[in-house]
Amino acid sequence: MENTERLRIAIDGPAGAGKSTAAKRLARELSIDYIDTGAMYRAIALKLIREHVDYNDAEALKELLSETDVDFRDGHVLLDGEIVDKDIRTSAVSRMASDSSAVLAIREKLVALQRAMGETKGLVMDGRDIGSNVLPDAEYKFYLTASVHVRACRRSLEMIEKGETADLDSIEADITARDLQDSTRTHHPLTQAEDAIVVDSTNLNIGEVVEVMLGHIRSRR
Ligand code: DC
Repeated sequence: MENTERLRIAIDGPAGAGKSTAAKRLARELSIDYIDTGAMYRAIALKLIREHVDYNDAEALKELLSETDVDFRDGHVLLDGEIVDKDIRTSAVSRMASDSSAVLAIREKLVALQRAMGETKGLVMDGRDIGSNVLPDAEYKFYLTASVHVRACRRSLEMIEKGETADLDSIEADITARDLQDSTRTHHPLTQAEDAIVVDSTNLNIGEVVEVMLGHIRSRR
């Protein structure tokens, strides 16, 4: 596809809908960068845990944020220059990211970084508030969703592959609780942008999801 270097594509949706895998593949197909904004919230959460900083302590949080750098290089997530790809995927970090991503000071810092990334280059950015808040004028916005049951099944397969035990009922309950927390928080909640194209991956595999997205992009260009 010609002239993709300034193309900005926003992909939002709930946890487990397949956003990051689809976004990564779409970015590769279009030869543009992929920005995983969830990884940025996770990196801040990791630092909060490591430094024992309470995100409700406004002064301590302000100081921590002023000394924190989150970036991407060669597909890696960098926290203050350190590659933290694995460290940000623990369940403790998932919980802390889910809670602390509701804090406005954290969101303001990361949203500013994300907007700056979108100003200089073409990219596929995935998250919860990308089409509605971070890149409201993105050329393409997708809202990728799937039933809670299917998302829970995918998550349990991932856990089993990692050698962990998985209880489907508790995973479903967990996903339902996270959906509610992400979509009802005060600042920049998970939102389907008015002009977003909804893609339901309940009955689609990841290749089919990417084809649907590419189909929309090709048909408009
Ligand atoms: O997509 P993920 O599970 O890696 O995201 C980690 C947490 O960050 C998740 O609880 C939702 C939050 N998040 C957010 O609030 N806004 C974004 N743009 C991306 C993620």
